[in-house]
Amino acid sequence: MDNNVTSIRVGYQCPSNIALVKYWGKKNTGVQLPANPSISWSLGDLHASTVIELVPRQLGKAFVFTLAGESKPSFEPKIESFLGKIAHDCPWLSDYTLLIDSQNNFPHGTGIASSAAGFGAMSLCLAHIEQLLLGDVSLNSIVNGMSFWQRSSYLSRIGSGSACRSMFAKPAIWGETLAVGGASDLFAVEMDSEIHPNLSHWNDVVLIVDDGEKSVSSTAGHALLESHPYAEARFGQAQKNLNQIVAAMKHGDVKSFIEIVESEALQLHSMMMTSIPYYVLMRPNTLAIIEEIWRFREQTGLPICFTLDAGANVHMLYDGKIEETAMNFVNNTLLPYCKNGQYLCSNTGKRPNQIV
Ligand code: PMV
Repeated sequence: MDNNVTSIRVGYQCPSNIALVKYWGKKNTGVQLPANPSISWSLGDLHASTVIELVPRQLGKAFVFTLAGESKPSFEPKIESFLGKIAHDCPWLSDYTLLIDSQNNFPHGTGIASSAAGFGAMSLCLAHIEQLLLGDVSLNSIVNGMSFWQRSSYLSRIGSGSACRSMFAKPAIWGETLAVGGASDLFAVEMDSEIHPNLSHWNDVVLIVDDGEKSVSSTAGHALLESHPYAEARFGQAQKNLNQIVAAMKHGDVKSFIEIVESEALQLHSMMMTSIPYYVLMRPNTLAIIEEIWRFREQTGLPICFTLDAGANVHMLYDGKIEETAMNFVNNTLLPYCKNGQYLCSNTGKRPNQIV
């Protein structure tokens, strides 16, 4: 480690992501290891931008956090807990204070995985700083047996499991599976084969049905699986769906892709409805939008489907080739179901960017 470092400043923009096969439930060993493998698309237009300046330890503080330049004490406990959990992996942290400034380009509380983008961007900065401190500035180099992207993914997983899938342009797979080479519970890897053109340029419109705070936190949600009567069956289904969706993406089988993605969304919500305590996270307009999408697909035969996160908002996924038709459908038919007419658009498949 270089003890002469007085200041390093690094910044990354990191996308959020949407899971196609869902991570829902953790292994009961290790730190934040998934009970089943998951796969996601990164949402390149919905991102966090984070700049970290590393300075010699000041006033005994591990970090100072600002959100777009403004102090935000409510975010501090999560960051403190994250830095505490990675302290063993990054012993160099104890010599420095991190001046962290972050901002998202999408509103907080829209059910978009802001923690995925936020922890992703922060971890990219930390992995980069680590390489500078260890005296190797090549982003392709190996630190602790991991490439830069794997190391960033590894660190972000400890902040928020799904964040580890935000590091890649191609679909990202996290969790042990034989469906792709090198898959691991510790970090995500990108799909190791070409994606068929039928499924390589899809977009996402997030239809905002409810912009309030989540009624069940991810931490509490994952814990529901520990004593869930259907947990083992669900983990088996996810394994099977992961194998099948990887094959569908390779071969351009849009019909199977849609069937798996929609079934996964409904399974995630079914698990919530059948746990104790139980939750219904869909709202009436969630269901209305799903039915409109089904009707539209049946009438037109176009490549369009929905998925859900752990909330009421609907992600409408569609092939970029039908952009105009899909957006007309949103504006003419789906808009009345969106709270205050809100929706967010994103491409899928962009990797993070270094911004400083
Ligand atoms: O990363 P977490 O702990 O917030 O879990 C996210 C889980 C889901 O968003 C519901 C599904 C997923 O795989 O992203």
